Amino acid sequence: MSSYDPHRVRADVPLLRRVIDGHPITYLDSASSSLTPRPVIEAMSRYYELRHANVHRGVYTTAEEATAAYEGARVAVGEFIHAAHPSEEIVFTKNTTEGFNLLVKSWGRANLRSDSVVVLTEMEHHANLVPWFQLREEVGFEIRYIPVGDDFRLDLSNLDALLDGASIVSFSAMSNVLGTKNPVERIAAAGHAAGALVAVDAAQSVAHSVTDVQSSDVDFMSFGAHKMMGPTGIGAFYAKRALLADMPPFLGGGGMIADVRLDGYTPAKGVERFEAGTPMIAEAVGMHAAVRYIENLGLAAIAEHERALTADALGRLRERFAGRVRVIGPSDVHDRGGVLSLDVDGIHPHDVAQVLDQHGVCVRPGHHCAKPLMRRFSLPATARASFGAYSLREDTDVLLDGLDHVIELFG
Ligand code: ALA
Repeated sequence: MSSYDPHRVRADVPLLRRVIDGHPITYLDSASSSLTPRPVIEAMSRYYELRHANVHRGVYTTAEEATAAYEGARVAVGEFIHAAHPSEEIVFTKNTTEGFNLLVKSWGRANLRSDSVVVLTEMEHHANLVPWFQLREEVGFEIRYIPVGDDFRLDLSNLDALLDGASIVSFSAMSNVLGTKNPVERIAAAGHAAGALVAVDAAQSVAHSVTDVQSSDVDFMSFGAHKMMGPTGIGAFYAKRALLADMPPFLGGGGMIADVRLDGYTPAKGVERFEAGTPMIAEAVGMHAAVRYIENLGLAAIAEHERALTADALGRLRERFAGRVRVIGPSDVHDRGGVLSLDVDGIHPHDVAQVLDQHGVCVRPGHHCAKPLMRRFSLPATARASFGAYSLREDTDVLLDGLDHVIELFG
């Protein structure tokens, strides 16, 4: 019997106490952004109240404390994903998307040629599509896609042929639309066997299951703090030390140099080469607190809790709305996370979300920044409900009652 108690998590999240138009909030949008627990908010407040100063510059006490806090956050984030060299393999970014821009515009621009091949999948978020398209306009390489099957999982039957001659395979560990968890180790092994590097979008997976970049042998990874109960405005880009050492800077300015002369500059050698300007110091402190918070809850326990919620929701959706509500994603919990994209009786997802809002239910309508995937399933959009560490079975009760109301109004 699991001792995991989502009510204890809820007690830490002030926003869950909100009542909207008489309805207690039912937050089912953690795939978009997770809610922030008090220890994270307090860590950031304490930093501003007691230790705020710029990092890597001052010699006075608070400046040294701020630098130690910032670099301590880097190590904590690196350890969280089991990086071999935590202080040397994590670059702080603005978000997952910026991590992919860094990968493509630094590593990609330095390494891809017109005859190169990049392998992506049909289920990628625009963050792992658009930067590659932008560089392809300049360089002119080939992009191949691992297809998505009618079962909402990657079709890996032709993987070796797709990877033949590839320089990199870049894919999501878990789809933000389908909830499908992709076999990271298997794709990474196949990529390396083909001589390709391996990049993973961990935005949706990193707060919901254990991430180990060493055991899965991933070369690059990107994720954001705000989907792991941390603040907005900060994310992390991981690259193996040897690869990062050869990557040119992405942004230029203060903090990323070893020397600047009137005839040019020499970039710094370490991770600071990629962190131009004053970084997100308070946010790094918040991300560190978020890492500690979810580690204390236990990633395996969170995963099991969300798996049980997802299994329960899938079963009850099937029973109560057979033929009226379609889940755009795997119908069982095998290799699947707590993201439920719903197509409700042909009713526009924005209408669905608006009626649900009248019940205090927060879901996200739209294409979820994955337009090619929506086209693959001939859908303009879905209404997406997603679970977090604080979600309850009762949240699903409210969602299902809300869906009854939607169908009553529009069906
Ligand atoms: N990428 C985030 C989502 O899927 C914003 O909602």
